Amino acid sequence: MTTPERKTTSFHMSPEEFRRNGHEVVDWIADYYSRIESFPVLSQVKPGDLRASLPASAPGKGEEFTDLLKDLEQLILPGVTHWQSPNFFAYFPSNASGPAILGDLLSSGLGVQGMLWATSPACTELETRVLDWLVPALGLPEKFLSTSTGGGVIQDTASSATLCAMLAARERATNFSSNQEGCRGKLVAYTSAQAHSSVEKAVQIAGIGRENLRLIEVDERFAMNPEALSAAIQKDRQSGLLPFFVCATVGTTSSNAIDPVPQIGKICREHNLWLHVDAAMSGTAALCPEFRYLHDGVEFADSYCFNPHKWMFTNFDCDCFYVADRKALIQTLSVLPEYLRNKATESGAVIDYRDWQIPLGRRFRSLKLWFVLRYYGIDGLQFHIREHVRLAQEFAAWVQSDQRFEMVAPTPLNLVCFRLKSGDEANQQLMDALNHSGDLYLTHTKLNDKLTLRLCVGQTNTTERHVEKAWKRIQEEASRL
Ligand SMILES: Cc1ncc(COP(=O)(O)O)c(C=O)c1O
Repeated sequence: MTTPERKTTSFHMSPEEFRRNGHEVVDWIADYYSRIESFPVLSQVKPGDLRASLPASAPGKGEEFTDLLKDLEQLILPGVTHWQSPNFFAYFPSNASGPAILGDLLSSGLGVQGMLWATSPACTELETRVLDWLVPALGLPEKFLSTSTGGGVIQDTASSATLCAMLAARERATNFSSNQEGCRGKLVAYTSAQAHSSVEKAVQIAGIGRENLRLIEVDERFAMNPEALSAAIQKDRQSGLLPFFVCATVGTTSSNAIDPVPQIGKICREHNLWLHVDAAMSGTAALCPEFRYLHDGVEFADSYCFNPHKWMFTNFDCDCFYVADRKALIQTLSVLPEYLRNKATESGAVIDYRDWQIPLGRRFRSLKLWFVLRYYGIDGLQFHIREHVRLAQEFAAWVQSDQRFEMVAPTPLNLVCFRLKSGDEANQQLMDALNHSGDLYLTHTKLNDKLTLRLCVGQTNTTERHVEKAWKRIQEEASRL
């Protein structure tokens, strides 16, 4: 396998070696998917197991590629939790698909770093086009189009999108002085008590401070109470503070609650607050007209994000972040050192996405998203989303028909929150037994202070058979307790 060339004049993998090894890797991935159900979904290794099986120092001499693949199989696979198993029902999905994997591979192959339009025009222009496609496809307002005042950009994660939104909101609220002078306090942000922890992280990083984040109470459906939001804003105003930012959630992590965005949006308009809408997983469902109500009120939003890397068959990482006023975002995040100056930027005719995100460098992520959209078509995506929702609803009906269980939250889409009526300890034991068996993987949350099991149907290849098996296993383990 080792070529003389490799040993004498270069240590690089030649194109011919790459072709051979690459075919082997693609075969390995295809085989992995065909045997994925034979692995325990949740990795069963103990802390330190893998580390102990690896040498303490890096190899001095290069090794054969086949040995690398052998170790992937023997050492790495046991330490993998199989997010792409159709028996994965934990957290929210981070699903993947053939076209996305291949698009990602091509992105690696091209090895483009698209910080500026000039560093690879296709990287920028494909991203702009694909993000524009998604605006009407998801029923989002036209102001998010690049041809309007706003535009979309791919971020690594929803956490980054929320942070960027908060930074732009901070600058807008302080007449763009905080970047210059530092954040002088007094700014207050709002989100619901059920919002994702990334909002808390954003107030830490953006210099707002955790004390200045109000966690607004939720109603019996775990959605933000808009009257409580309004009251909190007024109270802060009266105390001389400066309310500036609200994050509403469409599909909370714990229970998939949908905040009342139309009411929240009106409150934000009234008080001139930046409204960010976090639709990390559930936004994808708005591809289907029957779920487009999820985006009611987004016309009031200054920014919005959803993650194709959760439920739209696009490999991690890929978050689509839209703003209504791109100037505010760019003015917040733009820094132009001499070494990045170029004619295209100075002409004002191009987008430089480095000004729309925290890092400078960026991958060619739009390739995988483009591949997914073209391979499935909107019709194909709608088909699979509808099927996931149907399966979750079916599962919810089975839970309701078993006297031992109770539902803990509504099931608007593909997440079912349920529990054994017999108490937290029983639910913990049930979840541990199921996850330890390797047959499926689900996770928990606390709702109304009660330990609640969450089963989310969203893995690409999950079908009726897998959901039926999950329910059968849950019933069996419940009987055994
Ligand atoms: C509602 C919501 N927002 C934000 C996030 C954070 O996602 P990311 O990992 O893309 O930052 C999650 C993750 O599950 C989420 O459920």
